[in-house]
Amino acid sequence: MVHLRLLGLVLALTGHAVADCSRDTLEAAAESYIAAQTAGVVAGSAFAKLLDPAVVYRQNNKPSDATTGIWSKALKLDHNRTILDTTQCASYTELISTAGPYVIGVQLRHASATDAASPINLVDSIVATTGDWAFNAAKTLSYIATEDWGTLPEADRSPRATLQAAADAYLDMWSNSTAINAVPWGTPCARTEGSAHVTPSCKSGAPSGGTAAGKNTDRRYVIDETVGSCNAFCAFGGQMPDSHEFRLIDGKLRLVHTITV
Ligand SMILES: *[C@@H]1O[C@H](CO)[C@@H](O)[C@H](O)[C@H]1NC(C)=O
Ligand SMILES: *[C@@H]1O[C@H](CO)[C@@H](O)[C@H](O)[C@H]1NC(C)=O
Repeated sequence: MVHLRLLGLVLALTGHAVADCSRDTLEAAAESYIAAQTAGVVAGSAFAKLLDPAVVYRQNNKPSDATTGIWSKALKLDHNRTILDTTQCASYTELISTAGPYVIGVQLRHASATDAASPINLVDSIVATTGDWAFNAAKTLSYIATEDWGTLPEADRSPRATLQAAADAYLDMWSNSTAINAVPWGTPCARTEGSAHVTPSCKSGAPSGGTAAGKNTDRRYVIDETVGSCNAFCAFGGQMPDSHEFRLIDGKLRLVHTITV
């Protein structure tokens, strides 16, 4: 207590804020990204001010940049939803533009895991459009419009290790024939994969004969315990740019969203 008071006094005297990866600051950063994406211009935007000069842009698992990637397209958005990871200081935003048409996942990562005011040094995106796997933005929107991804009561939350383990078990199903038994299947559960919608069991049609060639590699996670969600970007089957997002309620899998390019 004494130490904290002293720290507070020192900070008050020196005028420096406590470095903290706060939800508010992470959310504000994600919202400024959404505004820049809506405008289709990063240069000169509020979002640009949050970026590290050496920020890396990735689109569909390849290097990209703000002037040629999805960020250079003004998008009329029908849907946005963001989860916040205060442990890694990162966010994940899901966007749908039926006019685009696009279904997009974007992970933003801040330079310091303990300071959301630190510059964003990675803008990582999975961008699906017409011709991509089972793509139909209007159908995706219709399926997910009524879903609840809201804040969970404490009793229904899982530790982040549990959320990541569930995501990993799920993604392992294509390379490990027994991983299906490690997924904490819940009911009802709804799985939305572009124009495909599977419910009330997400296990229906799940792979149980994984092979080494099916390994989903290069996994990048954003985890938000308050909503029970783990998002993972990966190279699906080692190749296809892909986003999977999972929601667990009381330790059980209840919602799955995928974006596959
Ligand atoms: C993002 O979604 C919220 C509702 O969740 C909405 O109020 C807001 O206008 C949306 N933002 C944009 C830029 O579409
Ligand atoms: C396959 O998945 C099961 C269940 O999660 C796990 O116990 C096992 O270690 C996995 N095998 C390999 C080779 O990763």
